[in-house]
Amino acid sequence: MKSLILFLSLLTLQCLRATSRVCHVDDLAGLLAFKSGITDDPSGLLESWNGTDCCSWFGVTCLSNDRVTSLWLTGQPERPDGYLSGTISPSLAKLRDLDGLYLMNLRNITGKFPVWLYGLPSLLFVYLGNNRLSGPLPVDIGKLGTQLDVLSLAGNRFTGSIPASLSQLTGSLRNLTQLQLHNNQLSQPIPEIFSSIHQLRFLNLSHNKFSGKIPNSISSLSSTLAFLELGHNSLAGQIPSFLGNFQTLDTLDLSHNNFTGPVPKTFSNLTKIFNLDLSHNSLSDPFPVMNVKGIESLDLSNNNFHLGKIPNWVTLSPIIYSLKLAKCGIKINLTNWKPKETYFYDFIDLSENQISGSPIPLLNRTEYLVGFRAAGNRLSFDLGKLKFAGTMKELDLSRNLVFGGVPNSVAGLEKLDLSRNSLCGKLPPTKFPASAFVGNKCLCGSPLPACK
Ligand SMILES: *[C@@H]1O[C@H](CO)[C@@H](O)[C@H](O)[C@H]1NC(C)=O
Ligand SMILES: *[C@@H]1O[C@H](CO)[C@@H](O)[C@H](O)[C@H]1NC(C)=O
Ligand SMILES: *[C@@H]1O[C@H](CO)[C@@H](O)[C@H](O)[C@H]1NC(C)=O
Ligand SMILES: *[C@@H]1O[C@H](CO)[C@@H](O)[C@H](O)[C@H]1NC(C)=O
Ligand SMILES: *[C@@H]1O[C@H](CO)[C@@H](O)[C@H](O)[C@H]1NC(C)=O
Ligand SMILES: *[C@@H]1O[C@H](CO)[C@@H](O)[C@H](O)[C@H]1NC(C)=O
Ligand SMILES: *[C@@H]1O[C@H](CO)[C@@H](O)[C@H](O)[C@H]1NC(C)=O
Ligand SMILES: *[C@@H]1O[C@H](CO)[C@@H](O)[C@H](O)[C@H]1NC(C)=O
Repeated sequence: MKSLILFLSLLTLQCLRATSRVCHVDDLAGLLAFKSGITDDPSGLLESWNGTDCCSWFGVTCLSNDRVTSLWLTGQPERPDGYLSGTISPSLAKLRDLDGLYLMNLRNITGKFPVWLYGLPSLLFVYLGNNRLSGPLPVDIGKLGTQLDVLSLAGNRFTGSIPASLSQLTGSLRNLTQLQLHNNQLSQPIPEIFSSIHQLRFLNLSHNKFSGKIPNSISSLSSTLAFLELGHNSLAGQIPSFLGNFQTLDTLDLSHNNFTGPVPKTFSNLTKIFNLDLSHNSLSDPFPVMNVKGIESLDLSNNNFHLGKIPNWVTLSPIIYSLKLAKCGIKINLTNWKPKETYFYDFIDLSENQISGSPIPLLNRTEYLVGFRAAGNRLSFDLGKLKFAGTMKELDLSRNLVFGGVPNSVAGLEKLDLSRNSLCGKLPPTKFPASAFVGNKCLCGSPLPACK
């Protein structure tokens, strides 16, 4: 009996504890202020935010005691109502032990850069990607502190330049491993901030309006940087040869800029690069012979290259899945191109070259190809004999010398262009407009004029 009473009272105590647990008053106040700054929460992200036990609220973590250590709220891009509207309350600065702030993909969060983050001494991770934050990055952004590991502000509407204070000796972000500023409206030359940020592994500044050259101080990152993404800006000048000495570079994207001159010879030393995108610049010959063991994706399209053939280091790659060499001055007979491994291919673009022969031996070795583009070449083969993977969605063979009839199998594609070839015969029923078939020898039937 005695023990039963003891047991019951213990149980009651437990229950009382469970229902009346509280988190630190400052954290509670900070989170409630955050909640009141949210004006619309259609998917109910903050539905569980009531009572006094803020450590149990959705998205809130308290690691060891009653202090909040991370706040993680992410919208669901695929759900129309997976967003939050409002602003980020500066009262979150009351969360003194916060080490990670993750407010991502919330889409409709507005306001300026949260300068109150400077007051948080343990902050390691700041992820504020894909919201609607705007205005300039503050000049004293380095005050985020030397402990900061990741700063991700991608997919917002920040304007102006990258503040040089990011790397000034007093108050700098010298322990950053990731700086993600892609998809904003940042401009001006990229400042020389990298010589004191020694640990940087990810640098993504793509889809902004940066101008000028690649800063020299990036050369200090030669032993750490794995991802360098500067695509879709207005950068110019030559590609610096120091980039060839980056021993751990995995991904280099310099596409859609105004780079000129040849690709440095030092690139032959990039033995570990997997993804290389230099497309849409004004780069010129000669292209270095790369010693890479296995390139996964390569895009050299739309420069001033005259490669002549598809480089051996591409043909021999055992893991390549994406190859884009449009307008690269390639003059080969495709029938005789025998890539070592075709299993992983999902996209091939060889448009606007001088390629003859047939893609049949290539396409019948691919099992997962999704797109094949070879417009503007001299391909000459019987289209009726073409077989392609069931995964195929896009086929562009326009402006070639393709003959024969159009097979029924094209009906399952999403995009098709067979215009300006030497095709003949009655078209199979498809959803494609006449523009996909015009300019052939004697094609007929809907959507072209009826057969005679
Ligand atoms: C608080 O949130 C919990 C969990 O979503 C819910 O079950 C409970 O009804 C809410 N309580 C109040 C007072 O809104
Ligand atoms: C985003 O928030 C603004 C006001 O802050 C509102 O007018 C607009 O409708 C919201 N958009 C969505 C998709 O909720
Ligand atoms: C910066 O990183 C170094 C090495 O990883 C570490 O020893 C140091 O404590 C870090 N500095 C701060 C302020 O976190
Ligand atoms: C860098 O940014 C681009 C968009 O501008 C994005 O497609 C890419 O995935 C980003 N890279 C990384 C490693 O996050
Ligand atoms: C490249 O430079 C030309 C002329 O200097 C300019 O017209 C063009 O807009 C630039 N392109 C980009 C992407 O910056
Ligand atoms: C490649 O690296 C080695 C060793 O660092 C160096 O000696 C050589 O000159 C480099 N090759 C090129 C083409 O830069
Ligand atoms: C391409 O190569 C094939 C096989 O060697 C050959 O039959 C064909 O005539 C060649 N085509 C051209 C245009 O040289
Ligand atoms: C692929 O095409 C070649 C040449 O036309 C042919 O010899 C071979 O049997 C085809 N392979 C398959 C799997 O269809």
